[in-house]
Amino acid sequence: MSELERKIAERIQREGPIPFSVFMEMALYDEALGYYRGDPFGKDGDFFTASQLQPVFGAYVRAVAGKWMPGFECLVDIGAGRCELSKSFEDGVYRSVEKGQRISKSKNAILFSNELIDAMPVDLYQGDVMLKVDCRDGRFVWWPHSPGEGVRETRDVVMAHLHEAYEAIDEGFYILIDYGYRNLERGRFARGSLMSYRKHVANDEVLLEPGKRDITAHVDWDSLLDMAVVAGWEVASFESLRASMLSLGPEVMGGLYSLDEMQFRTLLFSFGESFDVLILSKRKGPDFAGPGLVNR
Ligand SMILES: C[S@@+](CC[C@H](N)C(=O)[O-])C[C@H]1O[C@@H](n2cnc3c(N)ncnc32)[C@H](O)[C@@H]1O
Repeated sequence: MSELERKIAERIQREGPIPFSVFMEMALYDEALGYYRGDPFGKDGDFFTASQLQPVFGAYVRAVAGKWMPGFECLVDIGAGRCELSKSFEDGVYRSVEKGQRISKSKNAILFSNELIDAMPVDLYQGDVMLKVDCRDGRFVWWPHSPGEGVRETRDVVMAHLHEAYEAIDEGFYILIDYGYRNLERGRFARGSLMSYRKHVANDEVLLEPGKRDITAHVDWDSLLDMAVVAGWEVASFESLRASMLSLGPEVMGGLYSLDEMQFRTLLFSFGESFDVLILSKRKGPDFAGPGLVNR
């Protein structure tokens, strides 16, 4: 057993079977031994994110931010990972926030996250029964049983996050990019969307080797949209990443293409297809109209 496996096993011994969100939190974010203490990104890591498509992704984010808040002075990248976006912004404009840090207060700001929510812990329910994690003979196992058809994933921490983000700015936008599903697409994930990544291979062995592999679950967009509204946000736009890129117009698209053709194609046709872009707004005045659309 690894040191982290022992730590989780000891907790189970003390407390009994633990909610999956507790297992996922320890596996990914244990202060000393969690998965994200290392560098899991890119070719030598376990997975790619769009943030590795520099400079194209950074230029896209800059263009979206500028569309919603022309001349914005501050972009806060929440869950910034390697902070690869920083190079696309002028000195003093880009700020990053990582796990364990609070989002500092700003008057006007663009908050931004890419693949943050999918890395936040989930709980699993089969009917009314919460599926937990037990430890038997040195192996982690589901308790009282494994997830089956009709399993439901909940992500309670999102509410606190959206609330913190809302309170952090007087006025501005929160641009969230991630992969997920709408209510109508739930059928695609009848057995849940939890997934584990190691060396670019995906499987559903999420209880194996905690700390050594990524654990992720799709974003339940409808539930997140509901939580955002409860937290006070206004939904300004929700569309696929591809639609969001196209909506920037031919001049911006041409500019992105000319930066790097391969990155542009990957962003538009690969990430663009499976990722969505949600824009939340917080405004002071009552008559905000925005350029918005909700077309997915
Ligand atoms: C899948 S990675 C994405 C990193 C980066 N945004 C990218 O696109 O490559 C998720 C990141 O979110 C961070 N994270 C997770 N929960 C967080 C939280 N509550 N607040 C801030 N960062 C968080 C993780 O530490 C990790 O760096």
